[in-house]
Amino acid sequence: MDAYLAVVSKREVRKYDERPIDDEVKRRILQAGRVAGNSKNRQARRFVVLRDPELVRRTADCVYEPDNVLGAALVVAIAVGKKGPTAFDAGRAAQNMMLAASNDGIGSCPNGISDHDALREIVGHGDDEQVATVLTFGHPATPRDPQRLSAQEWIDRADRKPYEEIVQER
Ligand SMILES: Cc1cc2nc3c(=O)[nH]c(=O)nc-3n(C[C@H](O)[C@H](O)[C@H](O)COP(=O)(O)O)c2cc1C
Repeated sequence: MDAYLAVVSKREVRKYDERPIDDEVKRRILQAGRVAGNSKNRQARRFVVLRDPELVRRTADCVYEPDNVLGAALVVAIAVGKKGPTAFDAGRAAQNMMLAASNDGIGSCPNGISDHDALREIVGHGDDEQVATVLTFGHPATPRDPQRLSAQEWIDRADRKPYEEIVQER
């Protein structure tokens, strides 16, 4: 897929079907996150893949939309160190993973965290780290083909503020 089309056609997918994600695809998604640029190349981040069904269930209780997690084929918590622009680093890794997933036909969504303390136990991190986001992935319940529209058509359909409001020149 053209990289620009991949970027502008990305929309969150919250409903997944039952199919598991192929191991090779899973690895490609995580590699895409691993190679993301980051502050001073410190790589102060870990991608914790939550596989144990009990941990997944408990993770669902720690985010604002539990169903996103309960229905997902792959759940990844991004834990970052607390020093430096780590939220930015986490965002870059997250978007890399989600775009790589989309390229392989896998839908995804970031999940805001409602209970950091409980999630900390599940992910197993200390005071020097925090979980920036929990990413959910899966085969979209409603199949979507980014190639069915042009990049401009995806842009025109995006539920976003107008270009002139967001982009300012001085
Ligand atoms: C920091 C952050 C937290 C988010 N938290 C949630 C969440 O808890 N649950 C959810 O369903 N979507 C969550 N999202 C996804 C946003 O709702 C989504 O990016 C936005 O509505 C645009 O969606 P679209 O690209 O499908 O138009 C989050 C996104 C970000 C960047």
